[in-house]
Amino acid sequence: MEKPIGIFDSGIGGLTVVKELIKLLPHENIVYFGDTARVPYGTKSPRLIQQYSLENAEFLRQFDIKTLIVACNTASSYALDILDKYLEIPVIGVVKPGAETAVRTSKTGHIGVIGTTATINSASYHREIEHLRPQASVSGQACPLLVSLVEEGWLDNEVTLLTLKKYLAEPIQEKIDTLILGCTHYPLLSEAIKKVVGGQVRLIDSGKETAQAARLILEKNDLLKKDGQSGWHRYFVSDIPAKFEEIGSRFLGEPIRNLERVDFDRFLGSVNQEKILNRILHENN
Ligand code: DGL
Repeated sequence: MEKPIGIFDSGIGGLTVVKELIKLLPHENIVYFGDTARVPYGTKSPRLIQQYSLENAEFLRQFDIKTLIVACNTASSYALDILDKYLEIPVIGVVKPGAETAVRTSKTGHIGVIGTTATINSASYHREIEHLRPQASVSGQACPLLVSLVEEGWLDNEVTLLTLKKYLAEPIQEKIDTLILGCTHYPLLSEAIKKVVGGQVRLIDSGKETAQAARLILEKNDLLKKDGQSGWHRYFVSDIPAKFEEIGSRFLGEPIRNLERVDFDRFLGSVNQEKILNRILHENN
C-alpha cells in the first residue's frame, strides 16, 4: 500500500507527531499540512475549529491518503467525530491515545492535563479519562502563553520557568502523579516542565502515544506499507514556509525538505465545498 498517511495541525506543532511517526514507521509516506495562516486554533470557537479541520482534511484528500491523523489537540477535541463521519478512511486523534496512556500510567488516579484554552474548555481529556477510570480526579489547566514561548524558542529560560510555575501551581497542589501534555507544542518544554513538577510526576506525550495508535490501526486495517523502502515526506503550509522550515526543523529534529506553500483560499474556491461543510456542520451542531 503506497498511499500516504495524511496529517494536519494548526501549524508547526504537529511535527512532534510526525517525528514519532517517522521513528516508528520509517517506511511510510507522509503528507503533512500545517495551517500556518490560521494558527492558533486554541483561541478559536468550536465552529471555526470544526470548519478549518474539515477544510484541512479536504486538502489532504487530494493525495489519496489512507488514514488521517489529527495531530492538533484542539482540532482533535472538537472535530474528530465530524471528520470520522465525513471521511471513509480511519481518522486518528491525539486525545484518546494520550488519555489511555495516562490512565494506565497513573497510580493514584490524580491526573493533570495542560492544553490550549479551547482544549481545556472542551473537557475532551476529562471525558476520555473519566470514561476509562471513573474514580480518577482530573485537574485541567489552560496554558495559552506556552505556544508563543515555544515558537520563540524559549524552551528553558527564566520566563518560561516562571510561567510554568504559575500555570502548574494548581495541578501540583492537587498532587497529580501524571501530567498529560495536551498540546502539540508542549513536548518541547518537557525538561522545563519536569523541573517545575518534579521527577516523580510522569509526563505523557500525546504525540508519541498517537504514533503508536496509528501503527496499530494501520496494522488492523492491513494498511501498512509493505515494501522496505524509506518513505517520502511532503510538507505543505498555508503561509510563510521560511518560518515553518526554521522552527519546524527544531520540532522535527532534522531539516525539513519538500516544503511548499499552498494558496489555501484558491484551493477552497476550486473545490467548492461550501455545501458539504454547511451540511456537516449543520448536522453536528
Ligand atoms: N496545535 C495546537 C494544539 O495542539 C496548539 C497551537 C494552536 O493553538 O493552534 O492544541
